[in-house]
Amino acid sequence: DVPNRGWTKGEIVNTFRDIFKTNAFGKKLILIVILDEIDILLDKDGDGILYTLTRTDNVSVLSISNYLDFKNLIKSRVTSSLNDKEIVFPPYGADQLSDILSERAELAFSDGVLNDDVIPLCSAMAAKEEGDARYALDLLKNAGELAFDEDSEKVTSEHVKMAKDRIEHNKVTEIIQTLPLQQQRVLEAILNLTKQDEEISSGKLYEEYKELSKKDAVTYRRIFDFINELELLGIISTNTISRGRGKGRTNIIKLQCNENLLEATLFSI
Ligand SMILES: Nc1ncnc2c1ncn2[C@@H]1O[C@H](COP(=O)(O)OP(=O)(O)OP(=O)(O)O)[C@@H](O)[C@H]1O
Ligand SMILES: [Mg+2]
Repeated sequence: DVPNRGWTKGEIVNTFRDIFKTNAFGKKLILIVILDEIDILLDKDGDGILYTLTRTDNVSVLSISNYLDFKNLIKSRVTSSLNDKEIVFPPYGADQLSDILSERAELAFSDGVLNDDVIPLCSAMAAKEEGDARYALDLLKNAGELAFDEDSEKVTSEHVKMAKDRIEHNKVTEIIQTLPLQQQRVLEAILNLTKQDEEISSGKLYEEYKELSKKDAVTYRRIFDFINELELLGIISTNTISRGRGKGRTNIIKLQCNENLLEATLFSI
């Protein structure tokens, strides 16, 4: 049994050592270790654990990553003992997504309630989002819930389009609500300047942000990290422009999410 607090690395290694030593099940054991999202482990802790595992007898490692080049994070002394076989899964196409959705729809919906164009539309929309099966399922589920809420007899393509907006809406509000306070202040400053129709340079943003944060304000330097993070999350975009000879370059910041949605979320926290 694993205690609620989890196991430390040492406890895990020792437990497996003990099992191997006592040969607890009376058979020759092979340990298969599955490391999902292995790039995160490699990035954070380095390849030490992989090294230990590849140098231990009777251990097989199966690792999963979304990054085709994750092996660059492994040093050659480890790659040489990996003896690995790589399997690449290409993103799902619309037809494959349709198959997955049809299988689920069979279980989730009563016969005949889905209009014929619903599954093809969900599949096409998700195929555009890098073939994300999770997104395809989410669209279908939300479309069904919206139809249910309306007491509609059928799920239609209109429900799917509404579902897309609802998922987008929830994603933006969730991101904003979980941002640290000072980042929320930065967003509020961007919102204010956007509403005033101002071109937003980092300098102007910092002035506005300082107004809002008063004595809690972080340094100008830190603001650049915040801007980067907000851009990575897709909430803003930045564009570097040159002001002409000798005047240097300026970052122009633009909001990339719905203004009203941002305002409503920021002020409901
Ligand atoms: N071939 C499939 N048949 C049925 N359902 C599938 C199939 N592929 C994916 N799914 C469904 O899509 C969802 C996401 O799948 P999964 O968790 O395996 O994704 P993943 O490849 O690990 O993605 P991530 O990189 O985000 O971790 C799950 O709900 C899963 O049931
Ligand atoms: Mg996964």
